[in-house]
Amino acid sequence: MSKSQGPVCLIMEAEKLFLLFSLIMLQFLSCTSQESLKTNQTIKEGDLLISKGNIFALGFFSPGSSTNRYLGIWYHKIPEQTVVWVANRNDPIIGSSGFLFINQFGNLVLYRKDDQKLLVWSTNVSVEENDTCEAQLLDSGNLILVRKRSRKIVWQSFDYPTNIQLPGMKLGLDRKLGTDRFLTSWRSADDPGIGDFSIRINPNGSPQFFLYNGTKPITRAPPWPWRSQMGTFKSVFVNDPDEIYCQSTVPDGYYLVRLIVDHSGLLKMLTWRESDGRWKEYWKSPQLQCDYYGYCGAYSTCELANYNAFGCACLPGFEPKNPMEWSLRDGSGGCVRKRLQTSSVCDHGEGFVKVENVILPDTSAAAWVDMSKSRAEYCELECKRNCSCSAYAVIVIPGKGDGCLNWHKELVDIKYDRIESHDLYVRVDAYELAGNTRKLNGSREKTMQAILAPSIALLLFLISLTAYLRLKKGAKKGTELQINSNSTESECFKLSTIMAATNNFSPANELGQGGFGSVYKGLLANGLEVAIKRLSRSSRQGIEEFKNEVMVIAKLQHRNLVKLLGYCNQDGEQMLIYEYLPNKSLDSFLFRKSLQVFIALIYSSCQILPV
Ligand SMILES: *[C@@H]1O[C@H](CO)[C@@H](O)[C@H](O)[C@H]1NC(C)=O
Ligand SMILES: *[C@@H]1O[C@H](CO)[C@@H](O)[C@H](O)[C@H]1NC(C)=O
Ligand SMILES: *[C@@H]1O[C@H](CO)[C@@H](O)[C@H](O)[C@H]1NC(C)=O
Ligand SMILES: *[C@@H]1O[C@H](CO)[C@@H](O)[C@H](O)[C@H]1NC(C)=O
Ligand SMILES: *[C@@H]1O[C@H](CO)[C@@H](O)[C@H](O)[C@H]1NC(C)=O
Repeated sequence: MSKSQGPVCLIMEAEKLFLLFSLIMLQFLSCTSQESLKTNQTIKEGDLLISKGNIFALGFFSPGSSTNRYLGIWYHKIPEQTVVWVANRNDPIIGSSGFLFINQFGNLVLYRKDDQKLLVWSTNVSVEENDTCEAQLLDSGNLILVRKRSRKIVWQSFDYPTNIQLPGMKLGLDRKLGTDRFLTSWRSADDPGIGDFSIRINPNGSPQFFLYNGTKPITRAPPWPWRSQMGTFKSVFVNDPDEIYCQSTVPDGYYLVRLIVDHSGLLKMLTWRESDGRWKEYWKSPQLQCDYYGYCGAYSTCELANYNAFGCACLPGFEPKNPMEWSLRDGSGGCVRKRLQTSSVCDHGEGFVKVENVILPDTSAAAWVDMSKSRAEYCELECKRNCSCSAYAVIVIPGKGDGCLNWHKELVDIKYDRIESHDLYVRVDAYELAGNTRKLNGSREKTMQAILAPSIALLLFLISLTAYLRLKKGAKKGTELQINSNSTESECFKLSTIMAATNNFSPANELGQGGFGSVYKGLLANGLEVAIKRLSRSSRQGIEEFKNEVMVIAKLQHRNLVKLLGYCNQDGEQMLIYEYLPNKSLDSFLFRKSLQVFIALIYSSCQILPV
């Protein structure tokens, strides 16, 4: 559903439709075929009910290699039998004993007659005693039961879809009738019984369609309202007090297109290709990483970069929950609010950072804000008022103007998209906000500033600590810390030592990468495991002025920081050597983006690391 082109509804490029016009007319032989079924008439094995334009047929069939018999509807003109609806999905008939008729109460009933007559399937409508019903198969593939007197449709197969949505069929809720129309997969190609996969609407928040595996979401369509309306094919996503549904309509004659939830868990749109005499896959989902619901976990975005790239990124103000997994390209753990931040997002001064052109996060837990007065500023105010609000979006509601959606729970399943995209405003604290405001102006500078911004709090802390240390040292020895003060030789590692420890920077030793370069795991000759941060050239610039603070960092044995063992500056290589901790305490430091600056700072002071 990544393409978001009204994926649940059936849509199609106009040129492909021409293929559908000229179908081979197959010679069709049948025992009996009729257009409608009247009271007390029966359809038995070999009989067919055929739509007026010869497009669909209803009768008994056996799927795949099965010998079980089912009552179903299929395309009448297509050589490859393609069943679009099944009555007795879970109750196959063995042998040729099935028969369908309309009983005296006006219901369609399917019986099998072995030793005794057994009811297999039936409709459940009530018709006045003095009225009768008639069944008709329409050229749309819809089997309808019509009250004779009033010509009112009392039942239709389109209200009870199986695994296929045909043009004209609504998927979704009808609150007046109390029905929910959704697709469920077959169990296998041989068994049309109700399988595990379904596509149905979640009406909460802003309605959205999900493809489920049982109750687990596999993929999600963009939430209502959809913007895209494809030319010839109109797909509408209606959300009014009575009904929430998606429906597509096609011009007369364009009928050979269907949406299917197949038994392998894929949602596919198929079109009939006359030249090949087979169905062609026009579109399917999930297909790409970002299609999978929550692929990057919570508070992150998913972007399809090139094939080999890791598309997950944390939202502004967030960092990977498990940096090690993240660095190994497993984004499923998602992101958490940055831990080094000293102010909460609910303090004064917090604000919102715009994340542009995304399919909005799962809206099922999002709340609509009073739409009558919603303007962009109002949306922001409303979200700010409530500490539990983590993000908002301004939505253009067709015919009604703007509305705001506020999220109060996790932000999940955000992906970049061109068509169904919105701007999401993510709540951040003052520091993040400052960083991101500057970010909007700068070009090359912006990365550096973004990195710097969240670190301001720490810097302030460090500067005051520096002052404290100066006082202390000065009191003791009467000297100030010097940038180029002597450090012990032991802290400077030889390049050859590092090469040996990391097996010549073997990819197998690589723990991950970041903006600063790469981190390797190494084993020193003395058996000590170390983590080696190999800085890229871009990580080492313009930071002279921070050297004093850097020195302090090296001194600082903060419990959240990994111990720096030494450095290496040889043959153009610049590296930092840390103690290796196999769990989170390492990750949280080594891969922390907001600490890149400090890493660079530490590097720059490599020569002056204190004892
Ligand atoms: C249908 O069959 C029932 C039972 O045999 C009978 O009572 C009824 O009159 C029949 N209806 C019609 C329209 O033939
Ligand atoms: C048929 O419908 C009636 C009323 O709508 C309901 O009470 C009854 O349970 C239904 N029967 C079946 C078999 O669904
Ligand atoms: C059929 O029955 C309805 C009520 O059940 C009644 O209003 C109507 O007049 C009847 N029609 C005929 C033709 O008997
Ligand atoms: C569906 O869920 C089952 C059970 O959780 C799992 O074994 C299976 O791999 C899932 N299939 C797909 C296609 O997601
Ligand atoms: C904040 O929003 C949540 C979710 O809508 C709501 O339950 C809560 O009462 C709100 N709190 C305040 C203070 O408005």
